[in-house]
Amino acid sequence: MKILGTGSALPKRVVTNDDLAEFLDTNDEWISTRTGIRERRVLTDETLQSLAETAAKNAIENAGLTPQDIDFVLVSTVLAETLSPALAMDIQPAVGLKCMGVDLNGGCTGFIAALAVAEGLLAMGRARKILVLSAEALSRFSDWTDRGTCVLFGDAAGAAVVGEGDGVKDVCFRGEPRREVLFANTDPGNSPFAVDPRPACFLKMQGQEVYKFAVSHSFRDIREMLERAGLQPEDVDFYVLHQANMRILEAVRTRLKVGEDRFPHNIERTGNTSSATVPVLLDELNRAGKLKPGCRVILNAFGAGLCTGTALIEF
Ligand code: ACO
Repeated sequence: MKILGTGSALPKRVVTNDDLAEFLDTNDEWISTRTGIRERRVLTDETLQSLAETAAKNAIENAGLTPQDIDFVLVSTVLAETLSPALAMDIQPAVGLKCMGVDLNGGCTGFIAALAVAEGLLAMGRARKILVLSAEALSRFSDWTDRGTCVLFGDAAGAAVVGEGDGVKDVCFRGEPRREVLFANTDPGNSPFAVDPRPACFLKMQGQEVYKFAVSHSFRDIREMLERAGLQPEDVDFYVLHQANMRILEAVRTRLKVGEDRFPHNIERTGNTSSATVPVLLDELNRAGKLKPGCRVILNAFGAGLCTGTALIEF
């Protein structure tokens, strides 16, 4: 499999740290020094679906293809606009697509998980050109009264079109089930037969536990992938990591002993947009002309589950 094109879309409304300080007991200094985040984009009158449609159109155009060339859509989302049908089907009329579409939820590792599913479909000959898209609206399930979580998140969509090729050199996933560290419950419904259903709740997170998991597991998975490929850390041009916290990125970068130029970031502008962070950053690199032929990129993300995903890609 190889990546043929990328796309992304952000909501128009910029929410700065000062904007948050107007209704939360927080300030720009705390948020920017602890997380690196200065502003994030949040949905207002747009829908998550409209963001996803724009990212999809951009990626198909960037790949030099038409919507008719796409024969499968995989969407990674923690919470789509509707429960049914899948967002991967709902975006199709506006984009001009007409094919099977499936949503999957791999938490913040969802984009890398969707890439791996796409690789399997291509290998089996079930599809030839696949749109892989992450669309996340964390503003919809963040608790806007909890300064410990809501300041971290933003909304975004990022996409890639993939087809046959040999650009994906390695993919690795790991899971370590620890629900209590990071979770959100949906509405339990009104079944008269349900006994003690879990009450609905906004996203809950034990920040320091996630932080420790992220640094140790991201570093371990990247180091092991480099070893399998016989590469040194400086042989990789860009490490496109889940944009969750600038301090996590810096901790992994210094353990790998590589320069800042190999660790691109946009968290200062976007906040943490769950599984959309990796494809949005990838699209920014692509549109800046940085993903030249032969360029090696490691994608890495961690998230709810807990789970991690890592991929080595050559452009
Ligand atoms: N503004 C001001 N003060 C705050 C804020 C805020 N927004 N949030 C918390 N504080 C206070 C706390 O109340 C606490 O005060 P106290 O010492 O008086 O009790 C103090 O700051 C320190 O709080 P900690 O939670 O210990 O702060 P920490 O340094 O751990 O930073 C953070 C918190 C930024 C959440 C960090 O733990 C982190 O980034 N963890 C990883 C989170 C993550 O990556 N999540 C991503 C997974 S989810 C997803 O990707 C969708």
